[in-house]
Amino acid sequence: MCGIVGYLGNKKAYNILINGLRRLEYRGYDSSGIMLYNGELSVKKTKGKVSDLEVLYKNENDKRGNIGLGHTRWATHGPPNKINSHPHLSNSGELCIIHNGIIENYDALRTVLKRKGYDFKSDTDSEVLVNFIEEIKKSKKVKLGKAVRLALKEVVGAYAIAVFDKSNPSEIVTAKLGSPLAIGIGESEYYIGSDPSPFLEFTKKCIYLNDYEMAIISLKKGLILREITKDTILDPFIENLKHNIEEVEKGGYKHFMLKEIYEQPQSVTDTFRGRLISPSLPIKISSIEKSFEKFKSANRIIFISCGTSWHASLLGEYFFEELLRKPVEVEYASEFRYRNPVINENDIIIPISQSGETADTLAAIKMAKKRGAFLYGICNVVGSSIARETDTGVYTHAGSEIGVASTKAFTCQISLILLMALDLGKRMNTIDENRYQRIIKELSKLPELIERVLSIGEKTERIAKKFIKSPNFLYLGRGYHFPIALEGALKLKEISYIHAEGYPAAEMKHGPIALIDKNMPVVVIATKKGNYQKVVSNIMEIKAREGEIIAIVSEGDKEIESIANHFIEIPECDELIAPILANIPLQLLSYHIAEKKDCNVDQPRNLAKSVTVE
Ligand code: F6R
Repeated sequence: MCGIVGYLGNKKAYNILINGLRRLEYRGYDSSGIMLYNGELSVKKTKGKVSDLEVLYKNENDKRGNIGLGHTRWATHGPPNKINSHPHLSNSGELCIIHNGIIENYDALRTVLKRKGYDFKSDTDSEVLVNFIEEIKKSKKVKLGKAVRLALKEVVGAYAIAVFDKSNPSEIVTAKLGSPLAIGIGESEYYIGSDPSPFLEFTKKCIYLNDYEMAIISLKKGLILREITKDTILDPFIENLKHNIEEVEKGGYKHFMLKEIYEQPQSVTDTFRGRLISPSLPIKISSIEKSFEKFKSANRIIFISCGTSWHASLLGEYFFEELLRKPVEVEYASEFRYRNPVINENDIIIPISQSGETADTLAAIKMAKKRGAFLYGICNVVGSSIARETDTGVYTHAGSEIGVASTKAFTCQISLILLMALDLGKRMNTIDENRYQRIIKELSKLPELIERVLSIGEKTERIAKKFIKSPNFLYLGRGYHFPIALEGALKLKEISYIHAEGYPAAEMKHGPIALIDKNMPVVVIATKKGNYQKVVSNIMEIKAREGEIIAIVSEGDKEIESIANHFIEIPECDELIAPILANIPLQLLSYHIAEKKDCNVDQPRNLAKSVTVE
């Protein structure tokens, strides 16, 4: 949570910072701020969005300076107001910091600093850190780089920071532990970002800092990378980024979320590229090939994740158990890490994460690693912390996902998990050859099938209009559709603030049925195959209680068409592929309801894209 951006070079820093903040706004949007240096140090900050910050820069003179820092905040310590916004200055006004993360021992540090005469304007841990750095710099008479390193050795918590010192205005010191930090290398200029999106159009050369690393970036001396605890100098590894700028722009769509929904045929094509080349060729996932013996001998597979990625994990359990015949468990990372789970060397842990930075998932990985489990990660963001912490794994290659509500990343996760399960099942001989061939043929057409589903966009919009005043929704699904019902409900509540619950359809009669009356919209996923007739019975039970039924059905299903109040068709397909398709109308339904309610679809209240706090 929180986005940080920085620049030092010959360009006008303001333009880079404000654009960078817009791109990083998905990480938090409670407040934002910018520091510029132009002989004088100036800081402007405000509660609210980056667009509110821009209003403060009407005067061109205020935009001057070739070095600066910017921050967009997801509030942790203290309310989202101007005082708690970043950047924060030290007491002398010499040092300026931007920070993403949490300093857990900030209270103890603040007490020590108060005794030494420091005072604090904000409630934030970040203001404590910048003053702690200042205290070390002054008392030990050291330069900024050393002061930052000594301070961080005393700090407990997580951080991605950038610090500027007015007395040496051609340098920025950055450091990372837990929260992400990328540095873009241009011609005699440097960019800093929580991810590379602020500098993609300027340079493709990027250094991702690892935990316990700091970079002293100087226009005079270049970039020096150091290990914080051992104080050794490291060789920076410069990556050549493959991202392009279109990925982080809206491309004519009203919202990133809508763009990302419509990008799904392409995203899934990218997920399958080089892996599912043709139905007649073996699936090729190199990390599965290499770790096949581990999978074969594993006693148990445990998926760990949070939120939408947890729903992908749940579907993963259904796919893996069906096709591999191995015991599978699904865990919320936040519960798993604080329990005392029984894990051993014959367990494979599969963390799933879009961002690759989710703090709870990362902590669970570290705990499982210590206990000897083999970690196979599924991540979207290349080079992310989770990708680096796991033993091996696979990228979803969904492309940048900016909308806070996950859509294409989820679709790519579940498509990839099905592909993995088919690959493993085939290698382990736990799937019937004819069935394998049938599914793989359909799966290779998945992008076209998704394209067909997307053509129902307008119909979904019409249905959505009817429900903008509904305070509650139920989502029901059986078998492979149960995780999709959960995901559909999550999508609706997070962007439209309508209360929604997902249930296994058969559980309805054990309680939720009491909620059903004519004011309760019930979304039921009822595609042919699987438990179709049983779901039809559930629909009849809802109808008998006057619930308003929105059914997701297979193309040409006349039976449900005649019962449901609204129906949306998806192509008839194998029951393992159907949940991937069924999830798409639910994304569209949530989107259109939220959009019609005038909600901030891309930046729902209280949320942030990458949850780097516990
Ligand atoms: C919901 C959503 C969140 C994330 C969750 C995990 O739309 O995006 O529930 O799925 O915060 O994030 P990742 O996948 O980045 O670990």
